[in-house]
Amino acid sequence: MTEAILLVGGKGTRLRPLTVNTPKPMVPAAGVPFLTHQLARARAAGVEHIVLATSYLAEVFEPYFGDGSALGLHLEYVTEEEPLGTGGAIRNVASRLRSGPQDPVLIFNGDILTGLDIKALVAVHETSGADVSLHLTRVADPRAYGLVPTDADGRVQAFLEKPQTPEEIVTDQINAGAYVFRRSVIDAIPAGRPVSVERETFPDLLASGAHLQGMVDSTYWLDLGTPQAFVRGSADLVLGRAPSPAVPGRCGDRLILPTATVAPDAKLTGGTVIGEGAVIGPGARIDATTVLPGARVDEGAVLSASLIGENAHVGARTILSDVVVGDGATVGADNELRAGARVWCDAVVAPSSIRFSSDE
Ligand code: GDD
Ligand code: MG
Repeated sequence: MTEAILLVGGKGTRLRPLTVNTPKPMVPAAGVPFLTHQLARARAAGVEHIVLATSYLAEVFEPYFGDGSALGLHLEYVTEEEPLGTGGAIRNVASRLRSGPQDPVLIFNGDILTGLDIKALVAVHETSGADVSLHLTRVADPRAYGLVPTDADGRVQAFLEKPQTPEEIVTDQINAGAYVFRRSVIDAIPAGRPVSVERETFPDLLASGAHLQGMVDSTYWLDLGTPQAFVRGSADLVLGRAPSPAVPGRCGDRLILPTATVAPDAKLTGGTVIGEGAVIGPGARIDATTVLPGARVDEGAVLSASLIGENAHVGARTILSDVVVGDGATVGADNELRAGARVWCDAVVAPSSIRFSSDE
């Protein structure tokens, strides 16, 4: 049975303030820590043993997931004292793997929501005889990703992480953040120092003539590294557009966790999720928004594509669009915030103090 490594040590800088108290994979998406969806999908594909490579806020994973038995998994945790980068993190957990030198080992970035057919990726790896196989997807703007041109047979020709010049943009195929490594390739990564699998390991392997195989598909794919993407991903899980066996309830326009209180005339649409213990007041209209546990949204507030942190408070009639409200923050009544505004954890925005001006 194929085992897997999950890379969950990144700082999640772009998701701040959501990642001030919580590492990115533990921020709730569709009512459960995002990582739950990845673990459940791996389990559904037959993976039983998963090693979590942790670093930033490492201490929160094990108390929540424990030995993994609640998900039918055997989970292990390995924490880097100093972040070792993606390749260093993979090498650092090698001693926990049970696979033989020729066996395939799955590796996942910890912030990807995808419908990837995991078994198909392993099958491509085995039939191609590759050293490493990579899941690839096509995106409109590839600049923020690793570019991976392939030949007619799907063999990888180059790996260009986050290209800096237009000449480097040679394809719209990008590294989708799921790999199968031959075990012996993991053991050959230098130990005890930071290594980037994208900037060092893949280019070095290609230069030495190793066989890297790409598998391109067009299934659902999203990197949840920004607030916009995170909110989109959570809504798509609720709507059933992104597949996960771990959504706690039936898919549809909204997901209301059991202990939440929602006024009967509040309108929840577009994959909105209301977390445990959250309270939604009368006449509130909330679209494609994630409201985390314990938050309060008062009467007549209008929220769209936003993320409301744990125990945060949104006052009456306040309008939020594409906004992150950090844990414990308060946005008083009659405010209007839009377009990427982020209210820091525990901050207080006084009532009637912010208006959004548009050219009329
Ligand atoms: N343990 C550990 N230690 N994990 C780490 C470290 C580290 O030092 N650094 C990053 N990670 C984890 C992150 O938690 C995340 O799950 C994964 O490695 C990728 O890091 P990101 O910071 O999210 O990278 P990215 O999104 O900019 O780029 C990566 O993903 C793209 C696809 O979304 C690259 O792999 C690109 O090539 C790829 O296209
Ligand atoms: Mg990422």
